[in-house]
Amino acid sequence: MPATGPHPVLEHPGWSPDSWQARRATQQPVYANASALASALAEVRQLPPLVTSWEVLALKRQLAEAAAGRRFLLQGGDCAESFADCDSGTISNRLKVLLQMSVVLIHGLKLPVVRVGRFAGQYAKPRSAETETRDGVTLPSYRGDIINGPGFSAAEREADPRRLVRAHACSAMTMNFVRALIDGGFADLHHPEYWELGWLEHSPRAREYREMVASIGEAVRFMETLAGEPIGSFSRVDFYTSHEALLLHYEQALTRQVPRQWGWFNLSTHYPWIGMRTADLDGAHVEYFRGIRNPIGIKIGPSVTPDQLVELARVLNPANEPGRLTFIHRMGAAKIADRLPPLLHAIRREGAEVLWCCDPMHGNTESLENGIKTRRFDNIAAELEQAFDLHAAAGTRLGGVHLELTGEDVTECLGGARALAADDLQRAYRSTVDPRLNYEQSLELAMLIVRKARERARTD
Ligand code: PEP
Ligand code: CO
Repeated sequence: MPATGPHPVLEHPGWSPDSWQARRATQQPVYANASALASALAEVRQLPPLVTSWEVLALKRQLAEAAAGRRFLLQGGDCAESFADCDSGTISNRLKVLLQMSVVLIHGLKLPVVRVGRFAGQYAKPRSAETETRDGVTLPSYRGDIINGPGFSAAEREADPRRLVRAHACSAMTMNFVRALIDGGFADLHHPEYWELGWLEHSPRAREYREMVASIGEAVRFMETLAGEPIGSFSRVDFYTSHEALLLHYEQALTRQVPRQWGWFNLSTHYPWIGMRTADLDGAHVEYFRGIRNPIGIKIGPSVTPDQLVELARVLNPANEPGRLTFIHRMGAAKIADRLPPLLHAIRREGAEVLWCCDPMHGNTESLENGIKTRRFDNIAAELEQAFDLHAAAGTRLGGVHLELTGEDVTECLGGARALAADDLQRAYRSTVDPRLNYEQSLELAMLIVRKARERARTD
């Protein structure tokens, strides 16, 4: 098989990095100044990529293992990153909470964890309304920092092409800091104290977490004693990035060919996904995604039919390559029992290679009477628990979770060990888009995943 040039079997007829432009592209901003957009895109096209094709292909292999039950995928981060939060504290706290959760999962599931952040590029948001009205004033909706600003003024809400270049820069700075932390030993299993967040002093979960860390430490030392030397793989971990590849002009500008590889890679991230609102079969997003070689995710909401899902698998993974395609289902606790099983059976009958991942966040968003958007921890937990049971009943495997979380002490989701109530939400509600689990609720969810997976292992 040639490493460069068109692939004899897998290359997709009629596809090019811009073939999506002939399809209907929803959720795209309107730029008032076409030549400013063209020059920003030309600039992005010249800039170095954010990830490499080797990393992309390594992740695809790991995702294939997750689909086969030999790894577990932990994908998490902000609903939307913002340029203002591109700072060392936010980035390292998010990394800490993901590392802590992965320790809980490794310990409890006895499986390696594939760690994927929703970061270094999660700047574009689909919106259910084109406009927002406040006190009689109507402006375009906020669509994420890569497009416009969250402030409620005409200037902020105008789609500004310069933001494309800024988004690339902030992604690169985030990526650079994450890589430097990890290469410097931040993720070293010998030093889990590096990842401690202030909460450990007070949390009802602290003892359980510290016991797990101590037990992993013992296992590491035991294996190193057997090996007679330090084992390098314990001192570094892989971290991959993902984002919703919504703004197709930007994604196209970072779609590249590389030496000694066939085909095209999206090098803005390792693992792009298609959001629920842009997942239609004949839309521009599916067209763009079918031709790139990255592993890809696609959000599956409650209205997707089994036939549509099978067709999506055929179009997005015609060679049925393991690791290529992840279905991220996000049904809501009230609907999952009804909607998920027919999809699982259809994909199983088809024999399609799919990694199943549960996003228990987006089907459980609600607005309180005062207009605040929130999610109840109990509903998040209930969807996740049902997902494990429904997969087991269908003979499929839940291979990962997709979460919106932060390492900050925010109060955006209700419930959890500290039983956050509606009145608490005002205290530290910082998200400009969806409510996130705070560090404590995130860890609690990791523990719940372990409990549930163990319970299933006993029943199966
Ligand atoms: C998201 O992941 O932030 C999102 C908008 O999800 P969905 O496409 O599933 O609604
Ligand atoms: Co979200």
